Amino acid sequence: MGTCAICLGSTQRDADYHAACIESLFGTEVLPAINVSLRELHKIAVKMAGKMSISGMQEKVSLKLSPDRARLIVAATGGRYILKPESSRFPALPQNEHLTMRLASLVGIEVPSFGLLRLQDDSLSYVVKRFDRCDDGSKLRVEDFCQLSAKPLRDKYSGSAEVCIRALRQYASEPLVQLRSLYKLLLFGWWVANGDMHLKNFSLITGPDGICRLAPAYDLVCTRLVIPDDSLALPVGGKTKNLTRRSWLDLAAYCKLPEKVAKRVIDEQVKAMEPSLTLISKSFLPSEMKSEFQGIIRDTTARLTA
Ligand SMILES: Nc1ncnc2c1ncn2[C@@H]1O[C@H](COP(=O)(O)OP(=O)(O)OP(=O)(O)O)[C@@H](O)[C@H]1O
Ligand SMILES: [Mg+2]
Ligand SMILES: [Zn+2]
Repeated sequence: MGTCAICLGSTQRDADYHAACIESLFGTEVLPAINVSLRELHKIAVKMAGKMSISGMQEKVSLKLSPDRARLIVAATGGRYILKPESSRFPALPQNEHLTMRLASLVGIEVPSFGLLRLQDDSLSYVVKRFDRCDDGSKLRVEDFCQLSAKPLRDKYSGSAEVCIRALRQYASEPLVQLRSLYKLLLFGWWVANGDMHLKNFSLITGPDGICRLAPAYDLVCTRLVIPDDSLALPVGGKTKNLTRRSWLDLAAYCKLPEKVAKRVIDEQVKAMEPSLTLISKSFLPSEMKSEFQGIIRDTTARLTA
């Protein structure tokens, strides 16, 4: 049996993907070819930096399907996918992001379609479908919490969970519904030891229906696997370390999320531990990172139940 590099489920006859998973990510029957190597991608990423409508610290390339849908090609404009190759600074980053996004999906956080792709040189890249493009190519309005709180890019780390909550309250169409989703995402980010959830890693999106809601989650990684002792980027109740169940209940009180609702969200996160341990073991991370990740969520889960 193999493991599907999209859903992490088992496949028959050592296949790398489920046909249904390929269909849902690319809308094709077979995996589109990506005829480029990591070295070439690095060069393209350097050229693309600054020209793409998406920015961020990590190297990335914008892709679209060729007209016959057989290949993924580099797209200076009209890209439908973002590809993040292996990083020379952080080991196993594509595998880390892929797994962390899968864990988010497991607890019911909305995520775009995504998966892992093998390049010509056998290295793995993370690929995610853009959630801000409609089928007809039109672009939806997306604003991150750095923009919404009128802060310059350099201040993306100078916020807090409370700043995000206030931005959402001010701009989301149905803040009461959306608050629960944001609370769940903040809790999840802490639970997986993601120390890079800064203000640009949360956005609001306005759908074709004109409703402004929390965008699907993106850029989720367990940074502690590569930066030991990493703490939260955005403090919760002034704390970036040693958070407890109490800290999360206090945050719920701050957002006026009913305690009953907050407790349900926390309990869902606690219940997700066992299936998450299994998912981690099925992931593409190197085995020592798998054990470390499992240790991390055992620890954070214990903090939620104490
Ligand atoms: N699936 C997606 N659809 C649409 N836009 C996206 C998607 N994923 C990311 N983005 C946008 O692209 C930006 C950069 O992506 P991402 O955060 O994944 O990259 P990064 O380089 O890892 O960022 P960072 O600077 O936080 O390390 C995001 O801030 C977001 O605005
Ligand atoms: Mg980012
Ligand atoms: Zn699958």
